[in-house]
Amino acid sequence: METVLQIENLRTSFMTSSGEVQAVRGVSFQVKKGEILGIVGESGSGKSVTSMSILRLLADTAVIKEGSSIQFEGTDLIGLSRKQLRKIRGEKISMIFQDPMSSLNPLIPVGKQVSEMMKEHHPEMTKEQLKSETLKLFEKVRIPEPEKRYGSYPHEFSGGMRQRVMIAMALANKPRLLIADEPTTALDVTIQDQILRQLRELEKEYQTSIIFITHDLGVVAELCDRVVVMYGGLIMEEALIDDIFENPSHPYTMGLIASIPDPQQDKNVRLQPIPGSPPDMTNPPKGCPFAPRCPYARRICAQELPDFVEIGEGHKSRCFLQLPDAPADEHNPFRKGKAANGQGPVIG
Ligand SMILES: Nc1ncnc2c1ncn2[C@@H]1O[C@H](COP(=O)(O)OP(=O)(O)O)[C@@H](O)[C@H]1O
Ligand code: SF4
Ligand SMILES: [Mg+2]
Repeated sequence: METVLQIENLRTSFMTSSGEVQAVRGVSFQVKKGEILGIVGESGSGKSVTSMSILRLLADTAVIKEGSSIQFEGTDLIGLSRKQLRKIRGEKISMIFQDPMSSLNPLIPVGKQVSEMMKEHHPEMTKEQLKSETLKLFEKVRIPEPEKRYGSYPHEFSGGMRQRVMIAMALANKPRLLIADEPTTALDVTIQDQILRQLRELEKEYQTSIIFITHDLGVVAELCDRVVVMYGGLIMEEALIDDIFENPSHPYTMGLIASIPDPQQDKNVRLQPIPGSPPDMTNPPKGCPFAPRCPYARRICAQELPDFVEIGEGHKSRCFLQLPDAPADEHNPFRKGKAANGQGPVIG
């Protein structure tokens, strides 16, 4: 399958008065045509900074480090000026965020905002064409009574409807890549489900690749084809969606899976989140960033960063316990009772 986006060794830091915040520390992944890739991880893992680095929508204090590469359909985005990136944004790459209000203009009717977006990249379209295309889009994203809602202002919509307007706006120019950063996090579960279903349909119809960012692996399960799990500014695991649930290969992923709410269960039952909190990125640990919270951590984990290695087809993991010379014992969830290489523990 054709690759739409290829990120290699992306490192993004913020230069702050209290030092360098190493938000993203060497992230590589690709997105194929028509694929929905999930990026999942707890708050502060570096998901948003990774996605904002693509179109360089970062604070002025941000620096994308030497050696990072972001190839979009054969163009190196890092080599482009902000002006050139603005042209790509909205036309070839669109973004939607958690809070649609932050991207909508409260003073302009929503229909006009979507039309304007289209016009920016298609100045040849007439007023009538713009309106009729906008109404078609409103229908596609299931905004009821599109003709009537065309002239409504953002505050006249519910949160779910506003997010639909944002999706319509993001799709106005049939982008090649849609980046959705926690777009359903603020919505209730029923509305969230409807929007996820719609994104699936739209992805099929438009053949748009989607990067879907969320802290909720349950959402990834419903929507995505493939997933990368981020923690401490690094990718910990990458796998096809079935593999990640059937054969999770990183203790952090296992922790995330254990904290997915069970839809059958009483909503009042509190989940078991992973104990502890993510690392301080001004002074990231030199070893595995998950070591202080990992139930399987060993001495080496705090001292060295494990490599990101292939452990199966399309499946990669960054954990010492997955290496071929890792010990097979009751403390290794991946090799319990199995002899790794017959030589006994190599890592301590
Ligand atoms: N403008 C900024 N200045 C300094 N640090 C930032 C800034 N934006 C994000 N960070 C830090 O970068 C890290 C990654 O943040 P982010 O990508 O927003 O996480 P996520 O989206 O996974 O919740 C966090 O430690 C966060 O505090
Ligand atoms: S490398 Fe060590 S600390 Fe990190 S996830 Fe694996 S076992 Fe846990
Ligand atoms: Mg975020």
